[in-house]
Amino acid sequence: MSEPAETIDLAAAEAAVRHAIRRRNTDALQLLGHGEISLVMAWPSQQPSSALKRVPPFRDEARARQYIDVCEQFFQRLRVADVAVLPTTLHLHVRSDGRAVVYHQQPIADARQLGTNVLRTTSPEEGHPLLLAVADAAARVCAPTVGFDCQMANWLWDGSTATQLDFTSPFVLDESRSELTYDSHAFLQEYPVLTRFYLKRELTSLVLRFTTPEGALGDMLANMLKEGLDDWVDPAIRTINDRLGVQLRRETAQEMLDNDRKLLPMVLKLKKGQRWWLNHTGRSYEQLLPERTTYER
Ligand SMILES: Nc1ncnc2c1ncn2[C@@H]1O[C@H](COP(=O)(O)OP(=O)(O)OP(=O)(O)O)[C@@H](O)[C@H]1O
Ligand SMILES: [Mg+2]
Repeated sequence: MSEPAETIDLAAAEAAVRHAIRRRNTDALQLLGHGEISLVMAWPSQQPSSALKRVPPFRDEARARQYIDVCEQFFQRLRVADVAVLPTTLHLHVRSDGRAVVYHQQPIADARQLGTNVLRTTSPEEGHPLLLAVADAAARVCAPTVGFDCQMANWLWDGSTATQLDFTSPFVLDESRSELTYDSHAFLQEYPVLTRFYLKRELTSLVLRFTTPEGALGDMLANMLKEGLDDWVDPAIRTINDRLGVQLRRETAQEMLDNDRKLLPMVLKLKKGQRWWLNHTGRSYEQLLPERTTYER
Protein backbone atom coordinates (compact mmCIF):
# COMPACT_ATOMS: atom_id res chain seq x y z
CA MET A 1 0.00 0.00 0.00
CA SER A 2 1.44 3.36 -0.92
CA GLU A 3 1.16 6.37 1.34
CA PRO A 4 -1.42 8.84 0.14
CA ALA A 5 -0.52 12.05 1.90
CA GLU A 6 1.13 13.95 -0.94
CA THR A 7 -1.45 12.96 -3.53
CA ILE A 8 -4.86 12.79 -1.89
CA ASP A 9 -6.23 14.65 1.07
CA LEU A 10 -8.23 11.74 2.48
CA ALA A 11 -9.83 13.82 5.20
CA ALA A 12 -11.12 16.22 2.53
CA ALA A 13 -12.40 13.38 0.35
CA GLU A 14 -14.15 11.79 3.34
CA ALA A 15 -15.66 15.14 4.37
CA ALA A 16 -16.99 15.68 0.83
CA VAL A 17 -18.52 12.21 0.70
CA ARG A 18 -20.12 12.54 4.15
CA HIS A 19 -21.50 15.93 3.21
CA ALA A 20 -23.07 14.36 0.10
CA ILE A 21 -24.45 11.47 2.19
CA ARG A 22 -26.03 13.86 4.69
CA ARG A 23 -27.55 16.06 2.02
CA ARG A 24 -28.43 13.08 -0.19
CA ASN A 25 -27.11 15.10 -3.04
CA THR A 26 -24.06 14.27 -5.12
CA ASP A 27 -24.02 17.48 -7.17
CA ALA A 28 -20.82 18.66 -5.49
CA LEU A 29 -19.08 15.39 -6.37
CA GLN A 30 -17.97 14.45 -9.85
CA LEU A 31 -19.29 10.94 -10.24
CA LEU A 32 -17.71 8.73 -12.90
CA GLY A 33 -20.05 5.80 -12.49
CA HIS A 34 -21.52 3.34 -10.08
CA GLY A 35 -21.78 -0.40 -9.74
CA GLU A 36 -23.80 -2.19 -7.08
CA ILE A 37 -21.16 -1.71 -4.37
CA SER A 38 -19.48 1.65 -4.70
CA LEU A 39 -19.86 5.03 -6.29
CA VAL A 40 -16.83 6.16 -8.25
CA MET A 41 -15.82 9.81 -8.18
CA ALA A 42 -13.25 11.95 -9.93
CA TRP A 43 -11.04 13.69 -7.35
CA PRO A 44 -10.27 16.47 -6.50
CA SER A 45 -13.64 17.67 -7.78
CA GLN A 46 -12.29 20.98 -9.13
CA GLN A 47 -9.35 19.53 -11.02
CA PRO A 48 -9.67 15.77 -11.05
CA SER A 49 -6.53 13.69 -11.32
CA SER A 50 -7.75 10.33 -9.95
CA ALA A 51 -10.74 8.07 -9.68
CA LEU A 52 -11.63 7.35 -6.05
CA LYS A 53 -13.85 4.52 -4.77
CA ARG A 54 -14.89 4.56 -1.14
CA VAL A 55 -15.52 1.35 0.77
CA PRO A 56 -17.99 1.72 3.66
CA PRO A 57 -16.16 2.17 7.00
CA PHE A 58 -14.80 -0.77 8.95
CA ARG A 59 -15.33 -0.91 12.70
CA ASP A 60 -11.64 -0.41 13.37
CA GLU A 61 -8.26 -0.08 11.73
CA ALA A 62 -7.36 -3.77 12.14
CA ARG A 63 -10.40 -4.86 10.14
CA ALA A 64 -9.66 -2.29 7.44
CA ARG A 65 -6.07 -3.57 7.19
CA GLN A 66 -7.35 -7.13 6.87
CA TYR A 67 -9.53 -6.00 3.93
CA ILE A 68 -6.54 -4.21 2.35
CA ASP A 69 -4.45 -7.40 2.67
CA VAL A 70 -7.16 -9.42 0.91
CA CYS A 71 -7.26 -6.84 -1.91
CA GLU A 72 -3.46 -6.95 -2.25
CA GLN A 73 -3.52 -10.77 -2.39
CA PHE A 74 -6.21 -10.57 -5.06
CA PHE A 75 -4.05 -8.18 -7.16
CA GLN A 76 -1.21 -10.64 -6.82
CA ARG A 77 -3.42 -13.51 -7.89
CA LEU A 78 -4.43 -11.60 -11.03
CA ARG A 79 -0.81 -10.79 -11.85
CA VAL A 80 0.19 -14.45 -11.48
CA ALA A 81 -2.68 -15.33 -13.81
CA ASP A 82 -1.33 -12.77 -16.28
CA VAL A 83 -4.43 -10.56 -16.04
CA ALA A 84 -3.75 -6.84 -16.45
CA VAL A 85 -4.72 -4.77 -13.41
CA LEU A 86 -5.54 -1.06 -13.60
CA PRO A 87 -2.92 0.55 -11.29
CA THR A 88 -4.75 0.78 -7.97
CA THR A 89 -3.51 2.04 -4.62
CA LEU A 90 -5.43 1.52 -1.41
CA HIS A 91 -5.49 4.23 1.21
CA LEU A 92 -6.60 4.01 4.80
CA HIS A 93 -8.21 6.90 6.63
CA VAL A 94 -8.90 6.48 10.34
CA ARG A 95 -11.63 8.93 11.31
CA SER A 96 -11.87 10.79 14.58
CA ASP A 97 -14.67 8.37 15.62
CA GLY A 98 -12.20 5.47 15.27
CA ARG A 99 -13.81 3.96 12.22
CA ALA A 100 -11.55 3.17 9.29
CA VAL A 101 -12.41 4.03 5.70
CA VAL A 102 -10.58 2.59 2.71
CA TYR A 103 -10.31 4.40 -0.60
CA HIS A 104 -9.20 2.83 -3.87
CA GLN A 105 -7.32 5.28 -6.08
CA GLN A 106 -6.94 4.72 -9.82
CA PRO A 107 -6.21 6.73 -12.93
CA ILE A 108 -9.35 8.10 -14.58
CA ALA A 109 -10.10 5.72 -17.40
CA ASP A 110 -11.21 6.68 -20.89
CA ALA A 111 -14.92 5.74 -20.90
CA ARG A 112 -14.67 4.78 -24.57
CA GLN A 113 -12.42 1.90 -23.53
CA LEU A 114 -14.93 0.44 -21.08
CA GLY A 115 -15.80 -3.08 -22.30
CA THR A 116 -19.52 -2.29 -22.49
CA ASN A 117 -18.86 0.83 -24.58
CA VAL A 118 -16.43 -1.03 -26.85
CA LEU A 119 -19.07 -3.68 -27.57
CA ARG A 120 -21.75 -1.05 -28.07
CA THR A 121 -19.71 0.56 -30.86
CA THR A 122 -18.54 -2.69 -32.52
CA SER A 123 -20.51 -5.12 -34.69
CA PRO A 124 -21.04 -8.42 -32.87
CA GLU A 125 -18.31 -10.84 -33.83
CA GLU A 126 -17.59 -14.38 -32.75
CA GLY A 127 -14.00 -14.74 -31.55
CA HIS A 128 -13.57 -11.01 -30.80
CA PRO A 129 -10.22 -10.69 -28.93
CA LEU A 130 -11.86 -8.93 -25.96
CA LEU A 131 -14.17 -11.94 -25.47
CA LEU A 132 -11.24 -14.33 -25.76
CA ALA A 133 -9.16 -12.33 -23.27
CA VAL A 134 -11.98 -12.29 -20.69
CA ALA A 135 -12.74 -16.01 -21.17
CA ASP A 136 -9.05 -16.84 -20.64
CA ALA A 137 -8.85 -14.57 -17.60
CA ALA A 138 -11.87 -16.27 -16.00
CA ALA A 139 -10.37 -19.69 -16.67
CA ARG A 140 -7.10 -18.71 -14.98
CA VAL A 141 -8.47 -16.84 -11.97
CA CYS A 142 -11.65 -18.62 -10.80
CA ALA A 143 -11.15 -21.19 -8.04
CA PRO A 144 -13.33 -22.74 -5.31
CA THR A 145 -12.48 -19.91 -2.89
CA VAL A 146 -11.88 -17.12 -5.43
CA GLY A 147 -14.66 -15.48 -7.43
CA PHE A 148 -13.97 -13.14 -10.32
CA ASP A 149 -16.49 -10.56 -11.53
CA CYS A 150 -15.93 -10.58 -15.29
CA GLN A 151 -18.78 -8.33 -16.44
CA MET A 152 -17.84 -6.08 -19.36
CA ALA A 153 -18.28 -2.91 -17.26
CA ASN A 154 -15.27 -4.10 -15.20
CA TRP A 155 -12.81 -4.18 -18.10
CA LEU A 156 -10.94 -1.67 -20.22
CA TRP A 157 -10.00 -2.67 -23.74
CA ASP A 158 -7.32 -0.77 -25.68
CA GLY A 159 -7.42 -3.00 -28.75
CA SER A 160 -4.99 -5.56 -27.44
CA THR A 161 -5.18 -5.92 -23.64
CA ALA A 162 -8.14 -6.40 -21.31
CA THR A 163 -7.44 -4.57 -18.04
CA GLN A 164 -9.55 -5.25 -14.93
CA LEU A 165 -10.68 -2.22 -12.89
CA ASP A 166 -13.13 -3.44 -10.23
CA PHE A 167 -11.48 -4.38 -6.91
CA THR A 168 -13.71 -2.91 -4.20
CA SER A 169 -15.30 -6.20 -3.20
CA PRO A 170 -12.82 -9.05 -3.74
CA PHE A 171 -14.73 -12.33 -3.76
CA VAL A 172 -12.26 -14.28 -1.65
CA LEU A 173 -13.90 -16.92 0.55
CA ASP A 174 -12.57 -18.97 3.44
CA GLU A 175 -12.22 -22.74 3.20
CA SER A 176 -15.85 -23.30 4.22
CA ARG A 177 -16.91 -21.16 1.22
CA SER A 178 -19.57 -19.55 3.37
CA GLU A 179 -17.65 -16.49 4.63
CA LEU A 180 -15.58 -13.79 2.98
CA THR A 181 -12.00 -13.52 4.26
CA TYR A 182 -12.58 -9.96 5.49
CA ASP A 183 -15.16 -8.39 7.73
CA SER A 184 -18.37 -8.31 5.73
CA HIS A 185 -19.99 -6.22 8.48
CA ALA A 186 -18.69 -3.14 6.66
CA PHE A 187 -21.05 -4.03 3.82
CA LEU A 188 -23.83 -5.58 5.91
CA GLN A 189 -24.13 -2.56 8.24
CA GLU A 190 -25.92 -0.85 5.40
CA TYR A 191 -28.91 -3.16 5.89
CA PRO A 192 -31.56 -3.44 8.61
CA VAL A 193 -30.31 -5.72 11.40
CA LEU A 194 -33.12 -8.25 10.96
CA THR A 195 -32.35 -8.78 7.29
CA ARG A 196 -28.58 -9.21 7.64
CA PHE A 197 -28.62 -12.97 8.24
CA TYR A 198 -30.80 -13.61 5.19
CA LEU A 199 -28.85 -11.17 3.05
CA LYS A 200 -25.50 -12.56 4.04
CA ARG A 201 -26.71 -15.95 2.82
CA GLU A 202 -28.07 -14.52 -0.44
CA LEU A 203 -24.98 -12.44 -1.13
CA THR A 204 -22.56 -15.26 -0.29
CA SER A 205 -24.40 -17.58 -2.63
CA LEU A 206 -24.17 -14.84 -5.27
CA VAL A 207 -20.40 -14.81 -4.72
CA LEU A 208 -20.25 -18.59 -5.36
CA ARG A 209 -21.56 -17.91 -8.86
CA PHE A 210 -18.23 -16.23 -9.66
CA THR A 211 -15.99 -19.10 -8.51
CA THR A 212 -16.21 -21.08 -11.76
CA PRO A 213 -15.45 -19.78 -15.26
CA GLU A 214 -18.88 -20.94 -16.38
CA GLY A 215 -20.60 -18.99 -13.58
CA ALA A 216 -18.48 -15.85 -13.93
CA LEU A 217 -18.93 -15.77 -17.71
CA GLY A 218 -22.62 -16.64 -17.41
CA ASP A 219 -22.90 -13.57 -15.20
CA MET A 220 -21.02 -11.56 -17.84
CA LEU A 221 -23.65 -12.66 -20.39
CA ALA A 222 -26.48 -11.77 -18.00
CA ASN A 223 -24.98 -8.30 -17.69
CA MET A 224 -24.77 -8.02 -21.49
CA LEU A 225 -28.51 -8.67 -21.60
CA LYS A 226 -29.00 -6.03 -18.90
CA GLU A 227 -26.91 -3.50 -20.82
CA GLY A 228 -28.90 -4.00 -24.05
CA LEU A 229 -26.01 -5.84 -25.71
CA ASP A 230 -28.32 -8.72 -26.70
CA ASP A 231 -26.77 -9.07 -30.16
CA TRP A 232 -23.44 -9.90 -28.58
CA VAL A 233 -24.79 -12.72 -26.39
CA ASP A 234 -24.92 -15.55 -28.97
CA PRO A 235 -21.49 -14.79 -30.51
CA ALA A 236 -20.07 -14.54 -26.97
CA ILE A 237 -21.59 -17.91 -25.99
CA ARG A 238 -20.10 -19.60 -29.06
CA THR A 239 -16.71 -17.97 -28.39
CA ILE A 240 -16.61 -19.02 -24.74
CA ASN A 241 -17.91 -22.56 -25.29
CA ASP A 242 -15.43 -23.10 -28.06
CA ARG A 243 -12.50 -21.63 -26.11
CA LEU A 244 -13.12 -23.26 -22.74
CA GLY A 245 -15.07 -26.40 -23.65
CA VAL A 246 -18.00 -25.35 -21.44
CA GLN A 247 -21.69 -25.37 -22.25
CA LEU A 248 -23.09 -21.94 -21.53
CA ARG A 249 -26.64 -21.31 -22.69
CA ARG A 250 -28.57 -18.12 -23.26
CA GLU A 251 -31.35 -19.38 -20.99
CA THR A 252 -28.94 -19.68 -18.05
CA ALA A 253 -27.84 -16.07 -18.49
CA GLN A 254 -31.48 -14.98 -18.70
CA GLU A 255 -32.27 -16.85 -15.44
CA MET A 256 -29.37 -15.12 -13.69
CA LEU A 257 -30.59 -11.74 -14.93
CA ASP A 258 -34.16 -12.47 -13.76
CA ASN A 259 -32.81 -13.43 -10.34
CA ASP A 260 -30.57 -10.33 -10.04
CA ARG A 261 -33.35 -8.07 -11.23
CA LYS A 262 -35.37 -9.19 -8.22
CA LEU A 263 -32.54 -9.30 -5.67
CA LEU A 264 -30.53 -6.12 -6.27
CA PRO A 265 -33.34 -3.53 -6.40
CA MET A 266 -34.72 -5.16 -3.23
CA VAL A 267 -31.30 -4.83 -1.64
CA LEU A 268 -31.18 -1.10 -2.47
CA LYS A 269 -34.67 -0.65 -1.01
CA LEU A 270 -33.46 -2.27 2.22
CA LYS A 271 -30.51 0.12 2.34
CA LYS A 272 -32.80 3.11 1.83
CA GLY A 273 -35.04 1.80 4.61
CA GLN A 274 -32.06 1.47 6.93
CA ARG A 275 -30.90 4.98 6.01
CA TRP A 276 -34.35 6.32 6.90
CA TRP A 277 -34.32 4.44 10.23
CA LEU A 278 -30.83 5.57 11.27
CA ASN A 279 -31.48 9.17 10.29
CA HIS A 280 -34.71 9.18 12.29
CA THR A 281 -33.02 7.77 15.36
CA GLY A 282 -30.22 10.32 15.46
CA ARG A 283 -27.53 8.19 13.85
CA SER A 284 -25.73 8.53 10.58
CA TYR A 285 -25.89 6.33 7.55
CA GLU A 286 -22.52 5.57 6.00
CA GLN A 287 -23.04 4.85 2.35
CA LEU A 288 -23.58 7.07 -0.62
CA LEU A 289 -26.53 5.37 -2.31
CA PRO A 290 -27.32 5.62 -5.98
CA GLU A 291 -30.86 6.75 -6.84
CA ARG A 292 -31.48 3.37 -8.47
CA THR A 293 -29.58 0.19 -9.18
CA THR A 294 -28.01 -0.55 -12.55
CA TYR A 295 -30.98 -2.91 -13.03
CA GLU A 296 -33.49 -0.07 -13.23
CA ARG A 297 -31.84 2.36 -15.61
N1 LIG B 1 -10.83 4.29 -12.85
C1 LIG B 1 -12.01 4.60 -13.39
N2 LIG B 1 -12.11 5.65 -14.26
C2 LIG B 1 -13.32 5.97 -14.80
N3 LIG B 1 -14.47 5.31 -14.55
C3 LIG B 1 -14.43 4.26 -13.72
C4 LIG B 1 -13.21 3.84 -13.09
N4 LIG B 1 -13.48 2.78 -12.30
C5 LIG B 1 -14.79 2.55 -12.43
N5 LIG B 1 -15.38 3.42 -13.29
C6 LIG B 1 -16.81 3.44 -13.68
O1 LIG B 1 -17.61 3.11 -12.55
C7 LIG B 1 -18.31 1.85 -12.76
C8 LIG B 1 -18.36 1.06 -11.46
O2 LIG B 1 -17.04 0.81 -11.00
P1 LIG B 1 -16.67 -0.54 -10.25
O3 LIG B 1 -17.00 -1.66 -11.15
O4 LIG B 1 -15.27 -0.46 -9.76
O5 LIG B 1 -17.69 -0.43 -9.02
P2 LIG B 1 -18.40 -1.52 -8.15
O6 LIG B 1 -19.44 -0.88 -7.36
O7 LIG B 1 -17.33 -2.25 -7.44
O8 LIG B 1 -19.07 -2.45 -9.21
P3 LIG B 1 -19.74 -3.85 -9.00
O9 LIG B 1 -21.17 -3.63 -8.86
O10 LIG B 1 -19.38 -4.49 -10.31
O11 LIG B 1 -19.08 -4.51 -7.85
C9 LIG B 1 -17.50 1.17 -13.88
O12 LIG B 1 -18.28 0.24 -14.59
C10 LIG B 1 -17.09 2.37 -14.72
O13 LIG B 1 -18.18 2.80 -15.52
MG1 LIG C 1 -18.14 -3.28 -11.35
